[in-house]
Amino acid sequence: MIRINENYNKLQSSYLFSEIAKRVSTFQEANPDKALIRLGIGDVTHALPPACIDALHNAVDEMAADATFRGYGPEQGYPFLRTAIAEYDFKKNGIKIDSDEIFVSDGSKCDTGNFQELLAGDISVAVPDPVYPVYVDTNVMAGRTGANHHGRYEGLVYLPSTAENGFVPDVPAEPVDLIYLCFPNNPTGATATRDQLKEWVDYAHKNKALILFDAAYEAFITDKTLPRSIYEIDGAREVAVEFRSFSKTAGFTGTRCAFTVVPHECRAFDANGGQQLLHPLWNRRHTTKFNGVSYPVQCAAAAVYTPAGREQVNALVSGYLDNARIINESIRAQGYETAGGVNSPYVWIKTGTDSWEFFDRLLNAAGVVVTPGSGFGACGQGYIRISAFNSAENVKTAMERIKTALQ
Ligand code: MLT
Repeated sequence: MIRINENYNKLQSSYLFSEIAKRVSTFQEANPDKALIRLGIGDVTHALPPACIDALHNAVDEMAADATFRGYGPEQGYPFLRTAIAEYDFKKNGIKIDSDEIFVSDGSKCDTGNFQELLAGDISVAVPDPVYPVYVDTNVMAGRTGANHHGRYEGLVYLPSTAENGFVPDVPAEPVDLIYLCFPNNPTGATATRDQLKEWVDYAHKNKALILFDAAYEAFITDKTLPRSIYEIDGAREVAVEFRSFSKTAGFTGTRCAFTVVPHECRAFDANGGQQLLHPLWNRRHTTKFNGVSYPVQCAAAAVYTPAGREQVNALVSGYLDNARIINESIRAQGYETAGGVNSPYVWIKTGTDSWEFFDRLLNAAGVVVTPGSGFGACGQGYIRISAFNSAENVKTAMERIKTALQ
């Protein structure tokens, strides 16, 4: 008899962004003339930078001739892209990361979701609350939790990220084995200082733990005193894996390209306490289950690091940061407390009412889609997240509409 993985039955009924999409499409069917403004899922709206488009076109032309055509590429990514990443994202910032420590993939969602496969089924796992749901759901699927009660899974260690701690969770009092961190944070927009990240790196050394550090939004950090990579912290190479993405930075949400950094020294332990390096394990997994990002897309990603590409990407990021500032100012002017929106494309807003109720209110009265904070965890109840990923014009219109709706 074919049997299912019963852990899937523990999952909440639908993935957060699928539930939002369902409510939005029900609303749109009932109100076909209403032009919605989408500030919910963090999906970029501006076209790819011209440097990336040129590179894409050239690569497509190469694929059109036998002499330049490419079939399977290296699963880990083409050397031209891995070298550019190591050089511009790390070495130029004084961080030691070698090109062969970089694994190019089709997204940080997949990589943050898949990495736990390398680890034992009975490890303890800590996640911030609120949290990007992928970290939680993939551990539920893998059987590392019990049932869900009132929005929390038995067996997970939740690290509250609240206004009291500036939305940066404290290290837990108990030892845990695996820790997910995300800075700039999705969904709160909070950033962590070097001292705060150092506490986590020290904790991981002391407890023989591993940190999965999601840095998908690092490009939005403009404050030079804030770390953009966990590898800016001494000792992080042994205890942390970092995930980065071209999605939000260079507009690749639909094009798909990201990368994961697994330093050679990064380790876990076997059942006898013997140290085992994660780089060869991730390499084994990656080469077995993944056949690489397409050549044209990797060419487009590499173009991000050319002088023109860097300038164009900076302009995109500044535009979205400007939107975040407008959202922050407008919402605060209406008397709401906010966090994030500076060094981050997300603004986290205390609503004072149930998150889904506020979501429905903004959808129905303003025609603006946001994300209910409770969808990210129990500590997100009473909050909503507004994303800055849209045109400046739409963001301004959305703010006007929200102002009217809330009056
Ligand atoms: C979000 O809105 O939280 C993100 O867009 C989701 C993602 O990157 O998968």
